[in-house]
Amino acid sequence: MNKQKNIFPHIEGIIKKDQKEAFLKQKALVVWMTGLSGAGKTTIANFIEKELYKRGYFTQIFDGDYIRDGLNQDLDFTIKGRTENIRRIAEVCKLFVNCGVIVFSCFVSPTKKMRDLAKSIIGEENFIEVYVNSPLIVCEKRDTKGLYARARSGEIKNLTGVNAIYEAPINPDIELKTDVLTIEQTVEKLIDNILPKITYSK
Ligand code: ADX
Repeated sequence: MNKQKNIFPHIEGIIKKDQKEAFLKQKALVVWMTGLSGAGKTTIANFIEKELYKRGYFTQIFDGDYIRDGLNQDLDFTIKGRTENIRRIAEVCKLFVNCGVIVFSCFVSPTKKMRDLAKSIIGEENFIEVYVNSPLIVCEKRDTKGLYARARSGEIKNLTGVNAIYEAPINPDIELKTDVLTIEQTVEKLIDNILPKITYSK
């Protein structure tokens, strides 16, 4: 998408990110969770959000089903639609990061190009990539939303992993093998990794 012309964003006057982080006593971060539908991205985010809430952290979860039901309801599952989905949500994440919030962003984000786009919008220093890795066969067996069965019967033409591409991250910051670890182990691993990044220090 082309950049708008004759637009003058004023950001100098607003209270800065580090002031908001000091206010919230935490460091902002976007935890970008990629993986197949049914891999457990949102489930993990829900668990970890509750855990961080208990410890006094201010967080927000975004997930594909929720965002596509509202903000991005005009977008389809073509590469173009998915790229725009990721671009918009990355812009939203950037706004939240500037407010000092810790964001869990749970989107299939199937290609490296889409994830790199998100990272470039959000800023490398605020972004960690988490690969929620569960083999297709396991996601398909779970089929929590019934989408895999519908894709196999030909009803859904572009389901990620079945008849649409998923490029697994080659070098993610964190990999969570949700077919091997329990949810408790998964949450513990993720918390251990992100705590140093979100802990407030002047
Ligand atoms: S993304 O590819 O654009 O990142 P996103 O995470 O927003 O996808 O949405 C994925 C969710 O939409 C899935 O969890 C699933 O519930 C639903 N969905 C519906 N159709 C598809 C499809 N063709 N491919 C992937 N997910 C789909």
